[in-house]
Amino acid sequence: MTILGIETSCDETAAAIVQDGHILIKQSLATSLDQHKITGGIVPEVAARAQVEYIIPVLQEVLSRTAPGKIDAIAVTVGPGLIGSLLVGVETAKTLAYAWSKPLIPINHMLGHIYGAWLSHDDMDAHWPKLALLVSGGHSELILMQSHQDIKKVGWTLDDAAGEAFDKVAKLLSLEYPGGPNLSKLAESGDPKAVDFPLPLNQKDNFNFSFSGLKTAVLNYTRQYPELSQAQKADIAASFQQTVVTSLINKTKLAAAHFGAQEVILGGGVAANKLLRTELVEKLAPLSCRIPEMAYTTDNAAVIAAAAFYQNYPQDPLTVQADLSLELAN
Ligand code: KG4
Ligand code: ZN
Repeated sequence: MTILGIETSCDETAAAIVQDGHILIKQSLATSLDQHKITGGIVPEVAARAQVEYIIPVLQEVLSRTAPGKIDAIAVTVGPGLIGSLLVGVETAKTLAYAWSKPLIPINHMLGHIYGAWLSHDDMDAHWPKLALLVSGGHSELILMQSHQDIKKVGWTLDDAAGEAFDKVAKLLSLEYPGGPNLSKLAESGDPKAVDFPLPLNQKDNFNFSFSGLKTAVLNYTRQYPELSQAQKADIAASFQQTVVTSLINKTKLAAAHFGAQEVILGGGVAANKLLRTELVEKLAPLSCRIPEMAYTTDNAAVIAAAAFYQNYPQDPLTVQADLSLELAN
């Protein structure tokens, strides 16, 4: 089954054609990131206008090799995300589905992040239940999958998402947007033991996260030492990063044991973080961890098309709507 996926939930405009949920035929991606660097964060109106500008060229590129007649269905991210951005992809997908008489499959963005694992590994269909650690700019969640059809959120953040915390702390250290990748780069030259930041929400009776207190601890530290050298900033970055990664791993380990997970999946933009990728595998061993290829960590349309193969619930194009705060349904 050949699916055309469309993803426009934030500042990436992406389209991809994926076969049978795991073979990438072609993808195209444009981003308005450079415009958001100027403002130090995403301005939703700017992101939405860029979506309008990029959507047709991105679609033309992926359709250059596959004629519409060869496409069996269209999948589109319907939420969560920025409403102006989401609308561009959703209305485009509805129009194509209607014009080409193809089924339209609405996909939850966070579900898409899970299916990066299916694009990255060949043998994903064994080992249930699976536990997914999804960490992005807007979400930090633990998702228990008994099967493709039985998916339940078992842990979440009480305040900031992991990526959001990376971005905010990067700002405190005067790093350019997007903070996550820049902060982790700076952290490479720092000492993760230099600053003793408290491990957030470290109780063993829940699977939730909290990163806002940690962000405040970094803020207080930078206020205490306003004239920080580059080496001191690197120490702060490394210590902060280590605290976030340890917190994510502790809760994942706890939930995996509690629910008897047979393997762990990592997904979302923060899955690009090198320390998280290596420590998750090390600390959860012998439990197997499915780490997505770098290309499938941050937002892209291949994971949306892959998800639609397994979550194949088409809906009448005329009734599909963007939903900025869409939750993962069970
Ligand atoms: O999934 P994503 O592309 O967009 C959302 O759905 O939010 O995730 C973007 C988030 C941003 O907060 C970004 O700073 C973070 O992922 N991120 C990272 C790294 N690369 C991206 N955080 C930490 N380390 C990284 N290497
Ligand atoms: Zn995302």
